[in-house]
Amino acid sequence: MRKEIIAGNWKMNKNVSQTKDYFSELLPLISTDKREVVIFPPFTSLSAAVSCTQGSCVKIGAQNMYFEDSGAFTGEVSAEMIRDTGAVRVLVGHSERRTLFGETDETVNKKLRKAFETGLSPIMCVGEDLNQRQSGETFDFIASQIRNGLAGIENDSIVVAYEPIWAIGTGVTATSGQAEEVCGFIRERLAEQFGNAADGIRILYGGSVKAGNIKELMAMEDIDGVLVGGASLKSEFADIVNYDD
Ligand code: 13P
Repeated sequence: MRKEIIAGNWKMNKNVSQTKDYFSELLPLISTDKREVVIFPPFTSLSAAVSCTQGSCVKIGAQNMYFEDSGAFTGEVSAEMIRDTGAVRVLVGHSERRTLFGETDETVNKKLRKAFETGLSPIMCVGEDLNQRQSGETFDFIASQIRNGLAGIENDSIVVAYEPIWAIGTGVTATSGQAEEVCGFIRERLAEQFGNAADGIRILYGGSVKAGNIKELMAMEDIDGVLVGGASLKSEFADIVNYDD
């Protein structure tokens, strides 16, 4: 009942010509209407990615946005500008935005509101760092990110991605049990806010997802998809999309 999402976050990788090469290699390898496939290229490659994927099963999203409509915000990109490229999704609150660029739960909340208002479908990212995990703060911290990030938001088409910071780009994947434990906890928190509709909300896992561990992760009850970093840059991503359930 929850359509799986297989998403690739390119981070700060791939210019326009690399984007075109990537899709000419990837698209012949994948075809699925059973799963939602989304790629998040950098802003400068959004338009190229949208035109390359027209008529395919791949949707395009942006990695970030700003919450104001327009004005003197040098270096920022509005939700409407992203929508105008043909992109349909946006990542909000990725841990790299939070730790390197000062994103807070408050800005995450403003961005989510603006994304919904503009017709962009957001994926809100949450996740604890190694310190928090080791000192037993994981659940309190995730609960506060969910509560504050989603404050006042009623749109249950929200998607939440659980990406433990200690598993991002480190090659250390959370075990499927660790990932499920937190994703199940996230669904309980979502149920407090959205009631029964929480059963329909997609929760993704991200952090060192590869072709070799996708199947085990996706077998978990509360994991409805994955957000892939490094492995989405290569044709290995096709094996992740096509994993055999
Ligand atoms: P890796 O898959 O490279 O660990 O990155 C995960 C991530 O941050 C996706 O948003």
